[in-house]
Amino acid sequence: MTEATTGEALPAGDPPKEAVGPLVRGLAVIRRLSLAGGRRTVSDLTRDAGLARSTVDRVLGTLVRLGYVRPAGRDAVLALALMELGNAYLAASRLPGLLGPYADRLADELDESVSLAVPDADGVRFVHQAPRRRRMTAVFRVGDLLPAECAAPGALFAAGWSPADWERWRTRVASDPGYAGFPVLPSDHDGGLGADSFEDRVVRARQEGWSIDDQLIEPGLVAVAVPVCDATGRVLCAASVVSHTSRHDTASLRDAMLPRLRETAAAMEHALTTPPAPGPVGTARACVSDSGSEFVESLARGLAVLTGFTTAGMSLSALAEATGLPRATVRRALITLTHLGYVAAEGRVFRLTPRVLDLGYACLARLTLPQIAQPHLTWLAGEVRDSASMAILAGDDIRYVARVPTERIMSVDITVGTRFPAYATSMGRVLLAGLGEADRAAYLARADPRPLTRHTVTSPVPLAELLDQVRRDGYALVDQELEEGLRSIAVPVRDRAGEVVAAVNVSTHAHRQTAERTREAVLPPLREAAARIEHDLHIATRFARIPTA
Ligand code: PHB
Repeated sequence: MTEATTGEALPAGDPPKEAVGPLVRGLAVIRRLSLAGGRRTVSDLTRDAGLARSTVDRVLGTLVRLGYVRPAGRDAVLALALMELGNAYLAASRLPGLLGPYADRLADELDESVSLAVPDADGVRFVHQAPRRRRMTAVFRVGDLLPAECAAPGALFAAGWSPADWERWRTRVASDPGYAGFPVLPSDHDGGLGADSFEDRVVRARQEGWSIDDQLIEPGLVAVAVPVCDATGRVLCAASVVSHTSRHDTASLRDAMLPRLRETAAAMEHALTTPPAPGPVGTARACVSDSGSEFVESLARGLAVLTGFTTAGMSLSALAEATGLPRATVRRALITLTHLGYVAAEGRVFRLTPRVLDLGYACLARLTLPQIAQPHLTWLAGEVRDSASMAILAGDDIRYVARVPTERIMSVDITVGTRFPAYATSMGRVLLAGLGEADRAAYLARADPRPLTRHTVTSPVPLAELLDQVRRDGYALVDQELEEGLRSIAVPVRDRAGEVVAAVNVSTHAHRQTAERTREAVLPPLREAAARIEHDLHIATRFARIPTA
């Protein structure tokens, strides 16, 4: 039996008497909201969680103050900042950071998806995905949980299970035959156990050191996995190559992929021997102190202990230092979190478990950039009382990917999907100004700007100068070049690497006020909205891939 597979102390029975009740209830609310896909009416949530309405209100009030939940009418919605909890686990585990680049290179080389997954009780939890966008290949997201018997890594992890682990697995199979606890499985999933029993496949995986998924999840999907171990031989995670039966049967998949997969796993094991850099001091949300009646301090402090983990194993004192909380507070939070399975204790050292990814991470990692932007665009449109939008570059056009229209009628009829030539729009100019030199020069050489109004700038030299200006200023204001009477102002949205990935704008009537007045009134809230979008995007993409459309 290896330590990694002994499971993460699932809540068995009542919490220990030192457990922090508000933390137990707060985590239950987050978990329920996650299971509901990230959004639920407060009354349904109250019923799901089996708590008093006043308790749920206090929990939600606290989570809203911490920025982890956003109210939306009668609904509570998980906010992107909650991904900080999963990020704390992913960063402290070092697995995606150290091993992800190897998985990415292997995916490029093999031209197939490669993933990394860790054992999570009797499940398989993805911690890194290097997807190849092909039709008919299911790609799970970072944070997704699959039953061990349904994915290639599962047999490798179960090779180290104790009798108690097997017992837990049998209990789950008997009590959840429809896989309700695994929301990412296709809803018509039949267990996909194939011809061989899971037990047989585990025996083979133990003997051979690799494991195959022959369409266990869905028809056509095949995968081969190998373990990645630490210096003591403990299985830390598994690396999988995922393909489709139109390209490989299981024998050809094994022959084609296994040698390179094994070499990569060996390189990953070597990478794991690099000593961890000293972790930064925690983000210390604990400093949030608030005596308002809707703020539950002990819940906020418990969550601060989760985000206070900066390295894999931390002592109570190190956590107290990282969070700035008293040792007694940290100790009780750790007792609570260990009881709930979010923290595992190994002697005097504590580590986060992959179960932390159940706290909103997996469902928030499914969002796209436009979905992340939407609440911020709604805020912006409310501030400026004009339409707010987001667009990306699509060839030489901009394409709208999110939009919050205002009541005020405009003759231009814009919806998500609308395209306009990039040269005549503020978002287009921001996106063009963000291109690298070569792409920008190529665009200017092939673009053939047409006068859409009498104001449209169509000559390449002035257009190039305008793009330089936009780059210097950090915004573009375009006055009636797309349509008479329409003025718009846009700023870029940058990814973690500083690349411009989208633009957001406000469009307004040109005759209502001067361009100078529009700039004064609109630019500050527009920049604020872009900053909020970037902040969320950077949290979301620390370990997960977020599509721009
Ligand atoms: C995946 O990464 O999507 C994956 C990995 C292993 C499987 C199936 C899917 O068995």
